[in-house]
Amino acid sequence: MSDALPRKRVGVLISGRGSNMVSLAEAAQAPDYPAEIALVISNIPDVAGLDRARGFGIATATVDHRPFGKDREAFERAVDEVLRVNQIELLVLAGFMRILTPWFVARWEGRMINIHPSLLPLFKGTHTHRQALEAGVTEHGCSVHFVVPELDAGPVILQAKVPVQPGDDEETLAKRVLVEEHKLYPAAVAEVASGRAKLEGSVVIRR
Ligand code: GRF
Repeated sequence: MSDALPRKRVGVLISGRGSNMVSLAEAAQAPDYPAEIALVISNIPDVAGLDRARGFGIATATVDHRPFGKDREAFERAVDEVLRVNQIELLVLAGFMRILTPWFVARWEGRMINIHPSLLPLFKGTHTHRQALEAGVTEHGCSVHFVVPELDAGPVILQAKVPVQPGDDEETLAKRVLVEEHKLYPAAVAEVASGRAKLEGSVVIRR
């Protein structure tokens, strides 16, 4: 019998290849990791990430956003119901390419985190590596943050930096950042799942 605390049930939302989800699933194989990856949901059918999740024995679901048309909240209600049925306690966005409504964000306030491939508050939105190259920065990286209604604006939990090297293009830079993402996300999820990092109001409190 183990006297470890019960592991937090984590749900991961994806839209594609799911490499960050895989890094979480691998981390969660350690017996002392404070979270289990209990469910992976994709809004796009048949993406590689779903297969990879099943390979870890993780339950998967697809909630296709397309039948909901412009009604984002109806799509989110469907997602939320799957999360409820699966008793998900912490929601992790990993390459999930849908903008969330204030309704959904409020529902998961303090219990939903995202990884973004830039050193926030720099380079919000898409094509972050292109933005970094165009800005001529010498350092780039990734951030894990609590999700708030404004896109990529939530309080940062952890960040990792990489150098921008002469001759870098979007692809080489993205690769270097992704290596760090795969270490950063498991570390940040562990902080939140264990209660070491917590959202209080609009700041991250650590204990
Ligand atoms: C990652 O770069 C992540 O930071 C961004 O989307 C990409 C998803 O990649 N939000 P993957 O699906 O986890 O491989």
